[in-house]
Amino acid sequence: MQSTADKQDAGLSTVAEASRRRGFYLETYGCQMNLADSELIQGVLEKAGYRPVADPLDAGVVLLNTCAIREHAEQRVAQRVRALISASRNSRVRIGLAGCMAQHHREKLLAAIPGLDFVVGPDGYRGLGELLNAEGSFAQLRLDRDETYADISPVRGEGTRAWLTIMRGCNRFCTFCVVPYVRGRERSLPAPVLLNELRSIAEQGYKEVVLLGQTVNAYDHDGVDFAALLRMASSVDGIERVRFTSPHPADMSARDIEAMADCDKVMPQLHLPLQSGSDSVLKAMDRGHDMEQYMRLVEQVRASVDDVALSTDIIVGFPGESESDFEATSAVMDEVGFDHAYMFKYSRRERTRAEDIEETVSEEEKSARLSRLIDEQQERARSINERMLGQLTQVLAESPAKKQAGWLAGKNPQYKTVVFDPHGAAVGELVNVKIEATGPQTLRGERVV
Ligand code: 5AD
Ligand code: SF4
Repeated sequence: MQSTADKQDAGLSTVAEASRRRGFYLETYGCQMNLADSELIQGVLEKAGYRPVADPLDAGVVLLNTCAIREHAEQRVAQRVRALISASRNSRVRIGLAGCMAQHHREKLLAAIPGLDFVVGPDGYRGLGELLNAEGSFAQLRLDRDETYADISPVRGEGTRAWLTIMRGCNRFCTFCVVPYVRGRERSLPAPVLLNELRSIAEQGYKEVVLLGQTVNAYDHDGVDFAALLRMASSVDGIERVRFTSPHPADMSARDIEAMADCDKVMPQLHLPLQSGSDSVLKAMDRGHDMEQYMRLVEQVRASVDDVALSTDIIVGFPGESESDFEATSAVMDEVGFDHAYMFKYSRRERTRAEDIEETVSEEEKSARLSRLIDEQQERARSINERMLGQLTQVLAESPAKKQAGWLAGKNPQYKTVVFDPHGAAVGELVNVKIEATGPQTLRGERVV
């Protein structure tokens, strides 16, 4: 016969078990769109009665929000999820993959990764609470060209910067890219919904908002274009800084540039993915513009937006990229003088239009090309940043500096990291900093009053 104490223990452990099952642990991989989607997932799950926990071993639901852009990104997630599955083998935790990798490999993942309980694609988050409440494994992989999650409030993390997804999906189908297949067709959120969200972001105390979309400047809803949206975001009291990523060069209108130039709150920083400096490679990638158009755009932006910083994405080793194509990329990066570049080796992706194009650049050659571009970019950034020595720059203080006690770190208008002696300033303040030392990645200085 059970004693009263035993019964109480059993009761307590059932309560504890029920509570554990309602705890979710979420890890995010990939781009900022995924960070924003994770805030959305958190919103959905909290509304369904789940609560976040910091340790996967305490969770009833473990979810990795994944990226499929390159093979390497997927390998990392596959390793991580296997480790989580084996760590939690004895408990009744449910483990799932969300996002682009889930959408890319679909139900196959459930068979390929024993112990994986569910997969949910980027348009499947709305019903996640109910799906998890039911027993059993599931695959929620329907792409929905109308899903914008406009009515779902994301749960944002602490900090000074908020992410706001303004459009989802992509219609461009660049030949190397899996995004249109895993995130579906382009769709924009209604401007009134975005205005409400911007106001709520300001009320929650965020000082900066980053407008997000796969081709963010293709935003178009009921006659409101991206330029109008930039002006709208700038008009919201309490938001001090507006940024956006990633625009597509072929969607960058004169109106967009004018709005950037007119609005003080829109920061002088533009991430303009180039991918390659060779016209024939751009054509094979079906990027929708050539080098002449890209350089004209750079010229227009530089002529209109004072002190604008430019960054880019580059892929090396796309099939057919010759030595001279590669040299053209290196030369263009120099000519533009990018402040920053994200550089990648081409990774062949299933389902893309380039999947069947035979690779012509060996892995060794890709690595050699990549490391040359990285070295060149490092030197370029070093010399661009050196010009900042002795200058004043405005910094939004975001967090304590990692390496120097008492100092703070933040970004300047050009999105460069500045580490500084705050002389009493606090996180969340906009301060003027005099730059006293520079490197390729970071600027250092002290606040001047
Ligand atoms: N291989 C390598 N890099 C890729 N990117 C997109 N698809 C691939 C691929 N198949 C890069 C592009 C894009 C960035 C987000 O990722 O540079 O702009
Ligand atoms: Fe991919 Fe091209 Fe769309 Fe960017 S514009 S998400 S690279 S298909």
